[in-house]
Amino acid sequence: MAEDFMPLLGWDHVELWVGNAKQAAYFYEHAIGFTCTAYAGPETGVRDRASYVLEQGDVRFVVTSALREEHEITKHHARHGDGVRDIALTVPDATEAYRQAVSRGARGVTEPHREEDEFGTVERAAIATYGDTIHTFVSRAGYAGPFLPGYVSISENGHADPGVGLLNIDHIVGNVELGRMNHWVEFYERVFGMTNILHFGDDQIQTEYSALMSKVMSDGSGKVKFPINEPAEGKRKSQIEEYVEFYGGAGAQHLALASSDIVGTVEAMKERGFRFLDTPDSYYDEAPGRVGEIAEEWPILQEHKILVDRDDDGYLLQIFTKTAQDRPTVFFEVIERHGATTFGEGNFKALFEAIEREQALRGNL
Ligand code: FE2
Repeated sequence: MAEDFMPLLGWDHVELWVGNAKQAAYFYEHAIGFTCTAYAGPETGVRDRASYVLEQGDVRFVVTSALREEHEITKHHARHGDGVRDIALTVPDATEAYRQAVSRGARGVTEPHREEDEFGTVERAAIATYGDTIHTFVSRAGYAGPFLPGYVSISENGHADPGVGLLNIDHIVGNVELGRMNHWVEFYERVFGMTNILHFGDDQIQTEYSALMSKVMSDGSGKVKFPINEPAEGKRKSQIEEYVEFYGGAGAQHLALASSDIVGTVEAMKERGFRFLDTPDSYYDEAPGRVGEIAEEWPILQEHKILVDRDDDGYLLQIFTKTAQDRPTVFFEVIERHGATTFGEGNFKALFEAIEREQALRGNL
């Protein structure tokens, strides 16, 4: 049903609503190598909030906090902690994307509107997805400014430096409440015309203690991919349940960022103080037999605890960070693909066991 595809040009940006955007921006700059390229706040005529735009490769994050108690962002932060508010998508025509989405049953959050300044015009509109998360549609073909009207450039030459080598967003995973995965899978099918490219039942993703189910939704081009997880019954509390409990509902669990040199990226992030999940050395007894020949050296991957998986199209390297805030909620993945189009399912068990060790330390297992 090709006519049902909503035309998406790709990821526009991810906006995190946080408690202290000034300090969060410092973290993304110094721990993950982003360049702070633009700012909006009281000094630029925005009275109620401060926002910092952070860029690396084609990845663009915005961190925003409110300046007063009685504010939607402050309430969001009280409920969720630092978290992803907006997974914004670039579209050819935001008004048309909004109109289609709402006619297919999405809940509108912001009506289509135009914003302009001396750099041109941007059109935006937003719809709701899982939890308090939204998708803003952005059409920016007529805009040449630093980010959006209201923002001023704050990078020296207007460009981000290479940072730690992160290139683009690969996928963004949502955790939803027990029994709600298929609801959101159907939402992405109906509203975006996405297709389910992979699914895992609870028999496939299970450790000794915890279980989950997962389905991956993708747009026609394969550029925008949304895996959706829900908790499943296990011996102890599922890590997805832990997330939902501490996030106060459904939300974005991890943002996977692509690198073409994962070893270099991970070394640079570690040097900057970023912490990654550990993997037992026993993983590296089993992995070469499962994965077969790869270009990288196993001892170097083992030293950094980088995971490897293979599918019909190739292999991939990946590693997961510890959570980026005190609540056991949002974390990051660094991924390097060599043809593989899947998500490292062969590593799910190793990943989940690593998360469970963290969960046990928090007393939540
Ligand atoms: Fe992932």
